[in-house]
Amino acid sequence: MSELRTRDPAIFEAIASERRRQIETLELIASENFASEAVLEALGSVMNNKYAEGLPRKRYYGGCEFVDQAEELALARVGTLFGAEHANVQAHSGASANLAAYLAVAEPGATLLGMSLAHGGHLTHGHPVSFSGRLFKAVQYGVRPADGRIDYEQLEALAREHRPRLIVAGASAYPRVIDFPRFARIAREVGAILVVDMAHIAGLVAAGLHPSPVPHADLVTSTTHKTLRGPRGGFVLSQAAHGEKLDKTVFPMLQGGPLMHVIAAKAVCFGEALTDGFKTYQRRVVENAAELARALEGQGFELVSGGTDTHLMLVDLKARGLTGKVAEEALHRARITVNKNAVPNDPQKPWVTSGIRLGTPALTTRGFGLEEMRLIAGWIARVLERPDDAAAAKRVEAEVAEVARRFPLFAWEPALR
Ligand SMILES: Cc1ncc(COP(=O)(O)O)c(C=O)c1O
Repeated sequence: MSELRTRDPAIFEAIASERRRQIETLELIASENFASEAVLEALGSVMNNKYAEGLPRKRYYGGCEFVDQAEELALARVGTLFGAEHANVQAHSGASANLAAYLAVAEPGATLLGMSLAHGGHLTHGHPVSFSGRLFKAVQYGVRPADGRIDYEQLEALAREHRPRLIVAGASAYPRVIDFPRFARIAREVGAILVVDMAHIAGLVAAGLHPSPVPHADLVTSTTHKTLRGPRGGFVLSQAAHGEKLDKTVFPMLQGGPLMHVIAAKAVCFGEALTDGFKTYQRRVVENAAELARALEGQGFELVSGGTDTHLMLVDLKARGLTGKVAEEALHRARITVNKNAVPNDPQKPWVTSGIRLGTPALTTRGFGLEEMRLIAGWIARVLERPDDAAAAKRVEAEVAEVARRFPLFAWEPALR
């Protein structure tokens, strides 16, 4: 029996509908994933009820002995996973993790050199609408027009010119391996602190499929809910020298009580990421992305940088005369979920864009393999051939539904979740 169904049928119905949507659509949003039943169980647990300001064994509240166990396990596991000298797992989200990392080592007004959102970076890497562009003097680097790869020469020239306090590496829509040793050399040369935001690639890093930023960066931030497949949340790793400053920046400077149910779920996620099964899963994520990229190119689509090394790719639709907005909406009608995304030097506005971003973490969790990637590329091509043709979208939707049924999403099938 569901307590929620009885107590709050409206919310029960909204959750049930969202669950159905996740089952019946193909989730290709690169930043999303399906957390395990164990992660969801920890998230929905009584640890939600506990205030625990402070750190394990140094709390401002009584009764913290069991939440301490959860946070200590999360810290030990994330330490084993990434090999950092210090970790803080209390950041509520990726954006808060970035704010904490910046303010741990820089004062407001300092110069921050980060990757432009328009070239694949994240809002929190110096965009004017974000705290990062409001609190800091932001200077932005991007990708080379010729090949869509990070323009390390531009980065180096900007670093020498502006002598930033912070250099931020990492991205939300960059499909290639990032050269962290090169970032570190540039940061050292100009006396900057290097912060790497590995939110997107954390799962790949954990599995050894993308070089780790940890040996090269002063601080590394991440989310736990993308390739890492945990609860929504953030964490920060640092060199020992920054540890105390980092902890004090997370609390009391930026946050109040940590979300102990989320921290327990982060511990579960880190535990899962330490298994061989997780490494196999990440390998499949990367293989599926490579196959999807190949198949889309086979259908005549142009990919930024000509492909992918990671879990995601950016499709440039300019040559097809389509916008990202039109493509996202047309694919949605066929139950294929993607997000419109700017391509480098995009002539369209951010809410229109000329591209779509696709990623394989969620569908790989569901068990999709190479054959399904080829099917998906074919469906995308068919829908985008005639984006206004509702009947064509309907025909694809029927095929999508048949494949979705072959890969059940929630094996445990309780009333909700
Ligand atoms: C690279 C990167 N950093 C940070 C974030 C922000 O994470 P959150 O949405 O948890 O604040 C994102 C989210 O998309 C991201 O892609």
